[in-house]
Amino acid sequence: SSHPLKDSLRRPIRDLRISVTDRCNFRCSYCMPKEIFGDDFAFLPKSECLSFEEIHRLTELFVGLGVQKIRLTGGEPLMRPNLSDLVSRILSINGVEDMGLTTNGLLLGQQAERLYDAGLRRLNVSVDALNPELFGRMNGRGIKPAFILKQIDYARKIGFEIKVNMVVQKGVNDSEILPMAAYFKEQGITLRFIEFMDVGNDTGWSFKKVVTKEEIIEQLKNAYELEPIDQNYFGEVAKRYRYKDSDAQVGFITSVSDSFCSSCTRARLSSDGKFYTCLFASDGFDLRQMLRGGANDQELLDAVTSVWEQRIDRYSDERTEQTANNRKKINMSYIGG
Ligand code: GTP
Ligand code: 5AD
Ligand code: SF4
Ligand code: SF4
Repeated sequence: SSHPLKDSLRRPIRDLRISVTDRCNFRCSYCMPKEIFGDDFAFLPKSECLSFEEIHRLTELFVGLGVQKIRLTGGEPLMRPNLSDLVSRILSINGVEDMGLTTNGLLLGQQAERLYDAGLRRLNVSVDALNPELFGRMNGRGIKPAFILKQIDYARKIGFEIKVNMVVQKGVNDSEILPMAAYFKEQGITLRFIEFMDVGNDTGWSFKKVVTKEEIIEQLKNAYELEPIDQNYFGEVAKRYRYKDSDAQVGFITSVSDSFCSSCTRARLSSDGKFYTCLFASDGFDLRQMLRGGANDQELLDAVTSVWEQRIDRYSDERTEQTANNRKKINMSYIGG
C-alpha cells in the first residue's frame, strides 16, 4: 500500500517479523540459557501456534496496511515442519516485495533446496565464533562451526544470498572478531556484528558485556581499511562498511550504542499469534483469540490499525541499566529478534 499505516511517532508499518516456532535446537546463553530452557521447559503446544492458514491470513492483512518485507524467525524457524509451504504461501501474496529467513543453519542441509524452490532467496545465518571449543560452548549443544560453515557453502551454491550475524559479548567471543572478519571477507559474505542486547530477562546482560560498534571498528582498523556505505533503504537496521581492497562488506547492528528506533518500521508476530510493536515489549495484542473467535477481516484490520496508531515504543533510545534489569520483557526465542 502506498499510504502505509503510521504510528504515534509517524513511523510507517513496513516489515513483519513472523516467529514460526518458539523452539530451538541450540541453547545460546544470551538467548535460551540452559538453566531456564531445560528438559522440562514448557514450549507452546502445537494447538496454540498459528497454523499456516492463520499466518497467511494475518500476513495478507498486514500487507494491506503497508507491510512489504517479511522475515521468518523462531526460535529456530527450520524446526517448524514444512516451512517451505509457508514460504510459497506468503510469497504468493500481492505486495510482498522481500522475504528473508533468520536461522542458526543447522538444518539447512535438509531444507535449503526446498526453501529455494519455494522462492526464498535470502538467509541470515548466526555464527558467533570460529573457534570450535568456544562455538560449541556458545551454542550450548557442542555443534562445530565447520558444520555450519558447510551448510552456508551449500546454501550459497544453491543460489541463496547469505549474511552472517555474530552477537559479540565482551570476554566471551570478542577474540573472534578478527578471525570472523577475515574468514567472511575472504568468502565475500557480509558479516554483521550485533551488539549484545538486553532482550528477555535471564541472559545476564549488562552494559559492561556489550562490545560497541566503535570498539569493533578499532579492532578491524588494525587489519583493514573500511569505508562507510549509504543505507539501502529507510530504516535499514545495519550500518554497513566496505573493505577498501575488496567488494566484501561488514555491518554493525548498534541497538545499544546508537539505537535506531526513530526509523523502526517493524511489527512482530509471535508463533502463538500475538502482535508486538517492539522487541522489548512486555505484552502483545492477541490476534489468535480474535481469529479463532471468528473475527472478520475488517475487525482484524481495525485491531491492528488501532494498536499501531497508538505505538510509542522506542525502547533502545531510552535504555538504562534500570530498564534493562527491572522491566519484564519477552524472550528472544519467543519473538525471534
Ligand atoms: P535484513 O536487514 O533484512 O537482512 O534483516 P535484519 O538484519 O533486520 O534481521 P535479523 O533477523 O538478521 O536481525 C539481526 C539483528 O538485528 C538481530 O539481533 C535482531 O534482534 C536485531 N534487530 C532486528 N530488528 C530490530 C529492531 O527493530 N530493534 C532492535 N533493537 N534490534 C533489531
Ligand atoms: N542480543 C543481540 N542479538 C541477539 N540474538 C539473539 N539474542 C540476542 C541478544 N541478546 C541474535 C541471534 C540472531 C538474531 C535473530 O538475533 O544471534 O542472529
Ligand atoms: Fe541461539 Fe537463535 Fe536458538 Fe536463540 S533462537 S538459542 S540465538 S540459535
Ligand atoms: Fe524498534 Fe523497539 Fe528495536 Fe527501537 S527497540 S528499534 S522501537 S523494536
